[in-house]
Amino acid sequence: MVQCLRPSDAVVAQAARSLSAGGLVVFPTETVYGLGADALSEGAVSRIFQAKGRPTDHPLIVHLADGAAAAGLADHWPRAADCLARAFWPGPLTLIVRKSSRVPLAVTGGQDSVGLRVPAHPVAQSLLKAFAAQGSGAVAAPSANRFGQVSATRAEDVVAQLSPFMAETDLILDGGPCTEGLESTVVDCTAQTPRILRPGVLGREAIAVVLAACGLGLAAPLPKTPDTAVPRVSGSLDSHYAPRTPLWVLPATALRDRVCGYVARHPQARVAAWLFSGWPDAPPGVHVAVAPADPIGYGRLLYAQLNDWDRAGFDLLCLEAPPPLAAWEAVHDRLRRAAF
Ligand code: TXA
Ligand code: MG
Repeated sequence: MVQCLRPSDAVVAQAARSLSAGGLVVFPTETVYGLGADALSEGAVSRIFQAKGRPTDHPLIVHLADGAAAAGLADHWPRAADCLARAFWPGPLTLIVRKSSRVPLAVTGGQDSVGLRVPAHPVAQSLLKAFAAQGSGAVAAPSANRFGQVSATRAEDVVAQLSPFMAETDLILDGGPCTEGLESTVVDCTAQTPRILRPGVLGREAIAVVLAACGLGLAAPLPKTPDTAVPRVSGSLDSHYAPRTPLWVLPATALRDRVCGYVARHPQARVAAWLFSGWPDAPPGVHVAVAPADPIGYGRLLYAQLNDWDRAGFDLLCLEAPPPLAAWEAVHDRLRRAAF
């Protein structure tokens, strides 16, 4: 059984030794938990893909203790990356740049670019510094969930999803719940004009303002491919961030109508619903919780709520669709991938 420990100084030192020895270490970041291994060891990196059940052509983010260490893994450090790193690192931002030859292709899914991130979480920082003192200091880490399932913002969610796939010598550092709760914003800095590839807690507006101060623009998001526009079946191979339980995301009125129809057809069913104003006269069998009305609070709780409900054996999960406002962009992105 994999060990899940509170990250004392001694435990962080043990985790750094485990990384040096090619082991897996799950660690908290301010966004979500990461499933880490030495980024410069192909053998260690291959264990990430095995544990996560992830196709090997999906690139991993490499985590470092500071901007100088990150720039050291780039072939060259573009002005846009410099500008964004100075403004937002350490923090919930991943920068895509051309990779140095030191970064194995196994980390980047065969691409010549690499995603780099300097996380702010104190446990992530201690681990990266300890590993820099005795190893490469570069930790490749995807979100610490099984491929296609809901990301983990608490150690218990990591244990539930990944412990069957981790070795006794691997470690999970339990740093409590993640404060941001949604993955980092990913910005591609390989082209002349940077572009957001994945929206995150760090919003588009804040990024555009910083780039403008450096005399740079921000490219418009790429149009959604037809593949992402079609309805996705929750839990299928091409869906991400998805609970195994079917999930509906609907405006409040449509949600209440459809849930009433569903429980009328399936009287034994157990349904969980997350609505901004609750649902005082919900039919029996429908468990209702009130969703935070602000995007920051909502993002912090979303994955924990989905993971709890996914394990609780409900037949159907329903979320009220948040308002179509820019501040909710990252939440909308995750819900679009999770629901059908
Ligand atoms: O907040 C986060 O970013 C978390 C924590 C652990 O740092 N990590 C995370 O990793 O979400 P993962 O593997 O679940 O998602 C990585 C994202 C994917 O959307 C991937 O396509 C993108 O980063 N990415 C990584 N390297 C890339 C590259 N070279 N080119 C384009 N996209 C890349
Ligand atoms: Mg992920």
